[in-house]
Amino acid sequence: MDHDRPHSREYDQDRDRRNVRDHEQDCHHDFRGRDSRDSRNSGDHQDSRHPRDLHEFRERERDPSTYARRTHDDTRDRDRPYGPPPPAAADDRARAVALHYNARPQATVVTRQDSPIYQLRCFNNWVKAVLFQTYLRRNDRVLDMGCGKGGDLQKYRQADIRELYAFDVADKSIDQATERFQTMRNARFRAQFRAVDCYNTSIEPHLPRDQGFDVVSMQFCMHYAFSSEQQVRQMLANVTARLRPGGFFIGTCPNANTIVRKLRHADGLEFGNSIYTVKFTQKDEYPVYGHEYSFRLVDAVDDCPEYLVHWPSFVKMAREYRLDPIAHQGFHHFYTQHIDRHRDLFVRMKVVTPDSPTLPADQWEAAGLYSIFAFQKTD
Ligand SMILES: C[S@@+](CC[C@H](N)C(=O)[O-])C[C@H]1O[C@@H](n2cnc3c(N)ncnc32)[C@H](O)[C@@H]1O
Repeated sequence: MDHDRPHSREYDQDRDRRNVRDHEQDCHHDFRGRDSRDSRNSGDHQDSRHPRDLHEFRERERDPSTYARRTHDDTRDRDRPYGPPPPAAADDRARAVALHYNARPQATVVTRQDSPIYQLRCFNNWVKAVLFQTYLRRNDRVLDMGCGKGGDLQKYRQADIRELYAFDVADKSIDQATERFQTMRNARFRAQFRAVDCYNTSIEPHLPRDQGFDVVSMQFCMHYAFSSEQQVRQMLANVTARLRPGGFFIGTCPNANTIVRKLRHADGLEFGNSIYTVKFTQKDEYPVYGHEYSFRLVDAVDDCPEYLVHWPSFVKMAREYRLDPIAHQGFHHFYTQHIDRHRDLFVRMKVVTPDSPTLPADQWEAAGLYSIFAFQKTD
């Protein structure tokens, strides 16, 4: 299905509602008046999966053959969520990711607005804000695994959560997130930040005794775990160990179906546009884990190794950890489904502005590489 880019109509329709307080990017959007806040346990959260999505989702679950060949051994490492120390190679990969993100400077308000992907960043933040509105509730306790530099802190404030545990493998990012929290005005929640490798080690020692979580959030980071089945299992063990029954595991990550489709249509081993490049080393083998590609996004990610997330296999594994899939939807589709209800927020978060009433085509295409997901923990 084609999804229209946001365009001037979007902005025009909102023009007379625009005298709301000016809001900065991911920060000061206002959730007052939100109507979906209490919907998640009423069954309404099922709405976040369009009936067609549900159909596609079931089809894909039944037929993982959207991938050409699978070389995955399903029995490896099954019983080792807290197993032996990870092999050195896994440590090295986590270190490389940490180095990459540590090296990225913290953007200021000015540099952020000058970014060639400013609107894409705003769009991504809008997606996360709508996701939070759907699944977070007042007084929730939240675990964020892969919090980065704390880009979601204001969203947590707006959601009025009670407590946050925020972990990331990049220690400098954790320092910046901590500072951001300490200088935040009106933070009404408690927060703890730790530099922890959440895919190769147990996070248990970093959690207070007997503390459960209502929501675990992993935004734009889960795919780094997919270098091996063992890492995905460790990640899922960390996600679920303290998630209360009925609690939600939510996130955003690259959509492997979209990426593989684009790869297959590409002449060579790479594709992209003026702002992003995805580069593979081969396109004959499609292993379930460790299917590496290199991703570059202008002003954000410089050729960082990432891994495809084979969704049907992930859903199957997640069920072993008592996680029921309730939503999985590409960003374009998510936009189409939620824009009418969250149009004000879209404008306030500056995804579109009077100077740029359209999300540029290349940024819209890059947004389409990603999906939202949500699971619910069963009893
Ligand atoms: C694209 S950033 C997203 C940051 C943040 N969640 C956001 O949405 O702005 C990906 C983050 O995943 C983190 N990450 C990657 N591997 C990790 C691991 N093994 N354990 C914890 N965090 C990890 C990186 O350090 C980085 O901060």
